[in-house]
Amino acid sequence: MIAGIIGGTGQMGRFFAGVFQTAGWETVVSGRRTELTNRDVAEMADLVLVSVPIRATAEVIREIAPLLSEDQVFCDLTSLKVEPVRAMLASRAEVIGLHPMFGPGVASLRGQTIVATPARCSQETLDTLLSVFREQGAEITISTPEDHDRMMAVIQGLTHFVTLAKAEAIRRTGTDIAESLHFTSPIYRIEMGLVGRILAQDAGLYGAILQMNPAVPEVLARFEEAVLALREIVESGDADRFQEFFAANAAHYASYLVSATEETDDLINHVVSGR
Ligand SMILES: NC(=O)c1ccc[n+]([C@@H]2O[C@H](COP(=O)([O-])OP(=O)(O)OC[C@H]3O[C@@H](n4cnc5c(N)ncnc54)[C@H](OP(=O)(O)O)[C@@H]3O)[C@@H](O)[C@H]2O)c1
Repeated sequence: MIAGIIGGTGQMGRFFAGVFQTAGWETVVSGRRTELTNRDVAEMADLVLVSVPIRATAEVIREIAPLLSEDQVFCDLTSLKVEPVRAMLASRAEVIGLHPMFGPGVASLRGQTIVATPARCSQETLDTLLSVFREQGAEITISTPEDHDRMMAVIQGLTHFVTLAKAEAIRRTGTDIAESLHFTSPIYRIEMGLVGRILAQDAGLYGAILQMNPAVPEVLARFEEAVLALREIVESGDADRFQEFFAANAAHYASYLVSATEETDDLINHVVSGR
């Protein structure tokens, strides 16, 4: 079996080429400067995996979709699923959208989650592909492109938005980051670690995740309401209103509170012992 990776010179493309090679597949790759073109790879491979930046994905899919036959499998790794899957369905191939819920720095698939959105494929094709990932330790979550993008608006969109908004707010306060770390609690250090981690990466990826997911504006509207409501309660100085706000949220998250505390205790102990 041949896995053809378009964008196979990039970070995720290289990682997944290694995954298929470990599973005994042959791999061929293209980038913008490789000898093999995207069209060569699309014609040679049993499974074609598109791993190019989000903003280039639909265009690359549209370029190669007419070349694929019913005997091929068409996949992508994009962090959004509705638009890429729709574009892949214009081909005659079997179509399975994929979203690895991790970055290229992980050592292996062990313990990592991949969301799969099978859109047109036989059970056998799906099982063959997913067994490549499962045998290397990945957990698979099956979803639809629409549910995936709605979930990602919260899991990635809101999370990255809050982290970036916090970075901007702290910058606007004029706080010296190095100095603040001398005053730090473990929680501040962990949260600032997440700020630094995002800002050390590619703005293009985070911009696309926020700007191209149609479900993000709705989630940000709820966030804006929440910020204004909480600010108003804080500025009111009314302890009862704050209690009420806190209790409503504690009730909503009740089933998660114990495991959340245990997991973050581990994280805090790790951060404290690493200093
Ligand atoms: N990085 C992450 O944390 C992460 C996590 C989950 C999913 N993803 C998804 O993985 C995909 C790739 O991300 P990445 O981080 O690996 O990006 P990357 O390192 O920038 O790699 C992108 C690749 O696409 C190639 N490329 C760009 N335009 C192309 C075109 N028109 N035709 C062919 N190749 C083209 C680049 O090749 P050349 O520069 O060699 O031409 C490079 O090999 C994205 O869809 C992203 O949403 C990323």
